[in-house]
Amino acid sequence: MQDWNNIRNQFPVLKTQVNGYALSYLDNGASSQMPESVITRLASYHQHEHANIHRGVHYLSQTATTTYEETRRLVADFLNAESLEQIIFTTGTTDSINLVAESWGSSFLSDGDEIILSEMEHHANIVPWQMIAQKTGANIKVIPLLDNGELDLDIYANLLNERTKMVAVVHVSNTLGTVNPVSEIIAMAKNVGARVLIDGAQATPHMAVNLQELGADFYTFSAHKMCGPTGFGVLYGNKSLLEAMPPYRGGGDMIDKVSFSGTTYNDLPHKFEAGTPPIASGVVFGEALRYLNKIGMDEIAQRESYLLKYAMKGFKSLQRLQLFGTSNNKTAVISFLLDDIHPTDAGTILDKYGVAVRTGHHCTQPIMERFGIPGTIRASLSFYNNEADIDALINGIKETQSFFN
Ligand code: ALA
Repeated sequence: MQDWNNIRNQFPVLKTQVNGYALSYLDNGASSQMPESVITRLASYHQHEHANIHRGVHYLSQTATTTYEETRRLVADFLNAESLEQIIFTTGTTDSINLVAESWGSSFLSDGDEIILSEMEHHANIVPWQMIAQKTGANIKVIPLLDNGELDLDIYANLLNERTKMVAVVHVSNTLGTVNPVSEIIAMAKNVGARVLIDGAQATPHMAVNLQELGADFYTFSAHKMCGPTGFGVLYGNKSLLEAMPPYRGGGDMIDKVSFSGTTYNDLPHKFEAGTPPIASGVVFGEALRYLNKIGMDEIAQRESYLLKYAMKGFKSLQRLQLFGTSNNKTAVISFLLDDIHPTDAGTILDKYGVAVRTGHHCTQPIMERFGIPGTIRASLSFYNNEADIDALINGIKETQSFFN
């Protein structure tokens, strides 16, 4: 049994007062907060351990290399990946998807090939594919959304054919919270020989992910949504595909031998990691993973499911409110509108009560187009939220409604 109050107290920023109210931080989908142990790890790294990695015989460089590479092992264990070579460090999900679209796409896509995306994708899993489609002559097909915010898998089945080369879909929608049946989506893609990329940015902070079970070719996520730092993320890839793909960026560390008569490249994962990486961020992310592991991803999933149920009970007492994303299989993300009150106005009033939510299109404009709305108000919860945060949100919504009446 976890002591969730004690866990919450480990996050210093949650003690902030905003406009005289206790902060209710409900914008975890955008970025999560860090516990004390992760924050202090950054200072201790700089106080005692910093040097450049992979290129020094001296003590500090060796120590920093070992510590940084320990994060790779933690990530591989977290995902149940087969090997360390499959874990590429990037600057985040967006960078990971751009890497795959450009490197895999430039080698494996040609005129008339098809890429399947879904209507609930984040722009980061749309635009890189549009860019490579334009270069290669590939076409993009889109799995539509049902009214409840799930994907229409019947239409997906009809879109798949022998020209489908890539299916790139989100594991959990950042806007709707829908948890997609990715095992089924992957199996269906494999039946036609297509490759699959899963954008896991909103999944890895909230649930255990087992990549050997899933069988995705590529899986991506960001550290800053998992109590880690910004500017650091992961691309997991199928080893033989990563080996067949050309480097994405050139520079130091990604080479084997450089000569004006021809350059050869380093082994995986370094082939895709040009230049000095954000070493401190990698070390700090290792600490964040240790922190999450200590609580346990299953415990986190249960806690957030409880918080979602608690919130939905409160939402039932509200009037003139439309919910978007009502699947039974969803994370603790609540997207809503208050009749014709503009989301930005609602967000501004909620902020007056210390309630931090995100408003707007959430980098998912196709979802807004699908529902014919300008944006939503989105509360996205984490395990360190509590009932008081949710009560503050409900109260803030009532105050917003009475202000506009
Ligand atoms: N993609 C992040 C969000 O959903 C930034 O807010």
